[in-house]
Amino acid sequence: MLIDQFNRVHDYLRISLTDNCNFRCFYCMPEEEYEFTPASKLMQANEIEAIAKTFVGLGVKKIRLTGGEPLVRKDAAEIIHALSKLPVTLTMTTNGARLHEFIPTLKQAGVTSLNVSLDTLQADKFQLITRRDQFQRVYDNIHLLLENDIRAKVNVVAMKEFNDQEINDFVRWTKDVPVHVRFIEFMPFQGNKWTSNKVLTWQQILQIVEAEFSFLPLKDELNETAKKYIVPGHAGTFAVISTMSAPFCGTCNRMRLTADGKMKNCLFSKEETDLLTALRNGQDIIPLISQSIHAKAKELGGQFSADFEHIEASAIQNRSMITIGG
Ligand code: 5AD
Ligand code: SF4
Repeated sequence: MLIDQFNRVHDYLRISLTDNCNFRCFYCMPEEEYEFTPASKLMQANEIEAIAKTFVGLGVKKIRLTGGEPLVRKDAAEIIHALSKLPVTLTMTTNGARLHEFIPTLKQAGVTSLNVSLDTLQADKFQLITRRDQFQRVYDNIHLLLENDIRAKVNVVAMKEFNDQEINDFVRWTKDVPVHVRFIEFMPFQGNKWTSNKVLTWQQILQIVEAEFSFLPLKDELNETAKKYIVPGHAGTFAVISTMSAPFCGTCNRMRLTADGKMKNCLFSKEETDLLTALRNGQDIIPLISQSIHAKAKELGGQFSADFEHIEASAIQNRSMITIGG
């Protein structure tokens, strides 16, 4: 088992398949011209499988595939198929644009729940955020998941003066449609123009919802990052992921693997452990994984505190979100 200095058991691995994406969301891609990692530097399908197996041997029970956009990788179906053979809950975070091509693959792999990113319910605003005219495609694909009995969690990055007016539109969507909307507090990453006054906090989100709906809290599950709520009578639920205003590091069970094969013990860690090069050199990667977990900081990568209004975003050393994978 992978237990860190703070007694946290790490049994959840998030694997980024690529830093490429078919969208260009401003809060995820760095400002400057971004060069995607060349294919030779990415983990190959068999390398992903080998590393994943090692982690499973160390107690991992859940694997999430992320990106960039995981489904732009040509061998995405092959990778999903290979990982579905491992004794883990397999899931994915996707922008939803290609989901319609992957329903049979996902069903065969026994995937029962997916996270889809969608920050607005307005087609013109969708184009502003993603620089792609694909709102209807993503919206339809979320419904397609539901028709295929795949649970859909919808990730909404909540940003002041951007989509704060839409919070209740999302909650209204849960009335008849069994989607699980999750509002995520806006987080700082390299080149994403984060400022603390753009963060719409958990409490502010609840105040907005309260003005229109009465709702009840749902029970927190173990290692759950989302605080969940339901409007009685609604088919779906909503939740808030309060990374900035109320971090949940105390129960963290997550580890990350970037598409170029570097392990990160935290979303905000500046240190990385190069598992892919070690694997290619025929080295045993288990000691490297254990050391990385041992070095994990108590909270937020040791880089800032929950007092988010005083964060100096430019002082945080990290990759951009597109190269971490969320
Ligand atoms: N803050 C909060 N959430 C973010 N995501 C991407 N960038 C940020 C950010 N700066 C979300 C994506 C996706 C998930 C992996 O992380 O929208 O749903
Ligand atoms: Fe875990 Fe790091 Fe996220 Fe905190 S910031 S919850 S330690 S991954």
